[in-house]
Amino acid sequence: RRAALVLLAAGSGTRTGHRTNKVFLSLAGRRVFVWSLDATRDLAEIGPVVLVVREDEQDAAHEVLAQEAPGREVRVVVGGASRHSSEWRALQALRPDIERGEVDVVVVHDAARPLSGPALFRSVVAAARRHGGAVPGRLQPALLHRDGLTRRAGDAVAVQTPQAFAAAPLLAAYTAAAGQDFDGSDTAACVERFAAGVVIHHVPGTPTNIKITFAEDVVLAEALLARSSP
Ligand code: CTP
Ligand code: MG
Repeated sequence: RRAALVLLAAGSGTRTGHRTNKVFLSLAGRRVFVWSLDATRDLAEIGPVVLVVREDEQDAAHEVLAQEAPGREVRVVVGGASRHSSEWRALQALRPDIERGEVDVVVVHDAARPLSGPALFRSVVAAARRHGGAVPGRLQPALLHRDGLTRRAGDAVAVQTPQAFAAAPLLAAYTAAAGQDFDGSDTAACVERFAAGVVIHHVPGTPTNIKITFAEDVVLAEALLARSSP
């Protein structure tokens, strides 16, 4: 049994200020979503891959895959208006694999995080097999101090992707959520609300696993990717 990978790329990247959807930006020689996909290239635990894209970017996605990830088998699915609805479409595309018992875990990853690296994927898949759910997180106090801010009580945890979940409860949770018009941007929050009994285990995230959100993230990601270029 293998883990399915859902790669979410159906946003528009408006906050970067770029005209191109950030996941299609070419950084250090490859598109952002190809970097994200390539992190799993050598992982035997990864089975089917679903890339979720905007309807008007389907053709472009197929072209980029043919050029930059030749030989990699990827199902391209059209996303929805929100991250949650894009996930829901991906899970529906995976329903037959899950129901046949071929996929035991689903890994959900924001294509806008091109720097996750294979080790983090391995770690969330293993933790999801043990616990039911796994989310990479980072305690934020060091960052707050570095930026000259202080906080009185309690540590914030910054949640990252890839996140991994036992496939059947994840699908059941999203099916229940669909019946209630639920729409949230965090996969784990949906699972916690609609899949009673799934334990979400926190694994350590990595400091370089940034999500490209603003213009400065594009610059930082490009520098970090150039360093990791083959
Ligand atoms: N995403 C998606 N479908 C949507 C919205 C977002 O698949 N309808 C994906 C994005 O492509 C991204 C990830 O979810 O990889 C995280 O979302 P975010 O960082 O908010 O990306 P965008 O929505 O594209 O950016 P912005 O909010 O700045 O427009
Ligand atoms: Mg968004």
